[in-house]
Formats: sequence, structure tokens, C-alpha cells
Amino acid sequence: MDNKIKRIAVFTSGGDAPGMNAALRAVVRAGIFYDLEVMGIMKGYDGMIKNKFTKLKVRSVSNILQRGGTFLKSARCIEFTTSEGREKAYKNLVKNKIDAIVAIGGDGTFTGAHIFHEEYGIPVIGVPATIDNDLSGTDHTIGFDTATNTAVECIDKIKDTASSHDRLFFIEVMGRDSGFIAINSGISGGAIAIVIPEEDMSVDRLIQRLEKSGKRNKSSSVVIVAEGGKSGGAFQLAEEVKKKFDYFDTRVTILGHLQRGGSPTSFDRVLASRMGVAAVEGLLAGESDCMAGMVRNKIKFTPLEKAIKQKNTIDAEAFRVAKILSI
Ligand code: F6P
Repeated sequence: MDNKIKRIAVFTSGGDAPGMNAALRAVVRAGIFYDLEVMGIMKGYDGMIKNKFTKLKVRSVSNILQRGGTFLKSARCIEFTTSEGREKAYKNLVKNKIDAIVAIGGDGTFTGAHIFHEEYGIPVIGVPATIDNDLSGTDHTIGFDTATNTAVECIDKIKDTASSHDRLFFIEVMGRDSGFIAINSGISGGAIAIVIPEEDMSVDRLIQRLEKSGKRNKSSSVVIVAEGGKSGGAFQLAEEVKKKFDYFDTRVTILGHLQRGGSPTSFDRVLASRMGVAAVEGLLAGESDCMAGMVRNKIKFTPLEKAIKQKNTIDAEAFRVAKILSI
């Protein structure tokens, strides 16, 4: 490919997600495969502003495919939301002779990348990596599968103790504004109810559900609560249920950042590898201001603005299945 892009920069930004390292490896190796120079930027936009650039070679990304986290580190950078911050960042891209960038992250990362592209015209492609799975233009984001499997492993363990003591557990999973982890881990973990930000589940309705299954001799249960649920977090919900119906011996577990760590699943490694290569090939083919997503197992480029604004809607069919099976 004959192209004026000779040197690209790659970085990870926002909340980390398992598989980010696999995506970095793919971008670096694909870049070198196509005779590009690849620079890594430490800590996302923060490193771009502070001029923390480092040259990456084939062996710089050896043995990271299987590791959680991100070896380039990540950050949520307030300064980059200001035009002064972005100007400093752009000057550093020029200083480091960067022709194009690959941004690995979620909606915050892509919002910054889109504005930056509009202001300075730098070619940019985003690789969707967030455990929340809340971007449109891709069936899955990198990290979602691993985070869900981690949550399921924890739910299975909690169910052991829940059943020994006939208890009702409220387990809070991540997903700031989206119920993807909650729905999939709830189905896989056999939850009696799943509370997600996208649906208003009243405490009364939840109690009705619990009572109904109590009558069917269910003595222990888990309720999965997405952290952004409308009725509050797991602690609040457990308290409300207890107030109205003290029959239950309730306990609460917040899974929290456990879900962000750990070795990526094979699914996330493959996804990250394919998307990373697609990002480099996309830049070389003249794509820009877009995200390299995966739709029905095919790479698809979606404008960054659309990926962020439309959001991924929850799978209503999966949610329906969860309700049928939780009786
Ligand atoms: O966006 C990913 C995510 O893990 C959300 O699910 C969660 O609400 C948030 O990040 C936590 O952010 P932080 O690590 O900054 O506390």
C-alpha cells in the first residue's frame, strides 16, 4: 500500500478492559507488518499532553496477549476536554511526527478523538474497548466477554453459600449506564431477577417476583443489580426489600473492579486482534474519524459520533429469556 501515513501512535484511555493489551499488540504488529513506525503514548490523552511517547517494536508487545490491564496504562484526562489541553496534545503529535492515531477505549475516549479530529484533522480510528459494551456499531466491545465471565464465576461461588444458608444475595455488577453485564451474567448465573438501568423495576415488583418463587419452594436466590440501576445500587435495593419484606435473610456483594481485571478470554483476544489489525488497515485505506467494530463477525467502520451517540441497546430477547427462566 502506498500511503502518506508513515508513523502512527496508539494509546489506551478511559477505564481499562481485559484485551486492551491484545489490541495494542495487534496495532503494533500490524503497523510494523505494513512498514509503519509505531509510537505508544503512555496514559492516554494525559501522556499526549505531557509528551510521554515511546517507540514500540515487534518485541515491545511480546507476551502481553494474555495479560489483563494495559501496559501503556490508562487514564481519564480532564485537561483534554479543554481546547488548551488539546492544543498541547496536537503540538506533541507534530513534534513526534505522528501522521495518524489509533485510540483504544470507550465512549469518553471516542468523544475526545472525534473532537480532536474535527479541530486538527488528524486521521484517527477508534478500537472499542470497554467492559460496558455500550457502543453502537459493534456487537461486542473488547473486555465485555471477560468481565461477564468473571462476574459469573463470582456469582457461582456466591450461590454455593447462598444455598447453604437459604439467603437472598444482591450482587452488584458494573455497567455505569448499561445492563449488558447484568443481563448476561444474570442469565448465566441463574439469577432470580436482573435490575438494569434501561428498565424501571420497582421494589414492589421485585418483591412479588421473590414471593412467587418462594411459593415454588425456592429457598435461596441471587438478584443481579447493575450499578446504574434506577432503584439505586445493591445496598439500597436490599434495604428496601428488607424494609417491606423482612422474611428474607439478605446479603450484598459488590463485585466492583474485580470485573475489570484478569486474563482476557479467547473471544476477547480474537476480537482485539482483529479490530487492532483492522484499525491499521483502515487508516492505510483512508478511513478516519470512525471506529473499527465487529458486526456479525465482519469488521465494520462506524463514524465515531454515531458509535457514541446511538449507544448499544440491550438485547430485549435475552432479557425476556432471563425473565422466563427465573420463575
Ligand atoms: O466504563 C467502564 C467502567 O468500569 C464502568 O462500568 C464503571 O462505572 C466505571 O468504569 C468505573 O470507573 P473508575 O474505574 O474510574 O472508578
